[in-house]
Amino acid sequence: MKHMVFIIVSFLIFSKTFAFKSLVDCTDAPYFEPDYILFLSNNLVRLNSVGPAQTENPGKIPCCLQQGMMLISDYTFKNESYQYTIIPKNKLLWVNGYTSTNILNSNDCSSENLDCNTLYQGQYTYTRDDKIDPKKFFSPGEDITVEITMYGNCYYGNETICLSSCQYIADISYNPPK
Ligand SMILES: *[C@@H]1O[C@H](CO)[C@@H](O)[C@H](O)[C@H]1NC(C)=O
Ligand SMILES: *[C@@H]1O[C@H](CO)[C@@H](O)[C@H](O)[C@H]1NC(C)=O
Repeated sequence: MKHMVFIIVSFLIFSKTFAFKSLVDCTDAPYFEPDYILFLSNNLVRLNSVGPAQTENPGKIPCCLQQGMMLISDYTFKNESYQYTIIPKNKLLWVNGYTSTNILNSNDCSSENLDCNTLYQGQYTYTRDDKIDPKKFFSPGEDITVEITMYGNCYYGNETICLSSCQYIADISYNPPK
């Protein structure tokens, strides 16, 4: 059964450090659905994720929540003895067109003029392709584990706070198209 879980993940944007208060598995996350991870020809790996959706949050903090994935981190493929890293653990990467300057600043919520619909919204279904180096990646047919940490519903209020986050972990078989 799905239950509502709100996780506050905050990190100091200037020092580039961040702290997890807690992190749930994506299958327990209320909004995120990592749709698929697919190996394409040309040594590309495609990540597709869905949600969370844009929400107005009248009377609450923050007053609006932007849609789609906003940050990713710790995107790796591994087995027991080897790891291939796309985005390292200590790096938070803004994605889906989001930057530290187009997320909601919760101070703006006190303005009468703020219209949630005028905020940047990215894509609700977000797709990204990353290059893998076939000389350093696994061999076709190997069983591997993919991990990725995803963040959404982020806003700025003295520090960047993401209300939705989850870690996706899946066992897959590396079968790239010939
Ligand atoms: C892990 O992957 C490496 C690189 O492909 C491979 O050489 C090694 O045999 C694998 N280890 C296990 C335990 O599958
Ligand atoms: C930001 O920091 C100030 C001063 O420490 C504090 O009064 C204010 O409540 C903080 N704002 C948020 C959104 O946390």
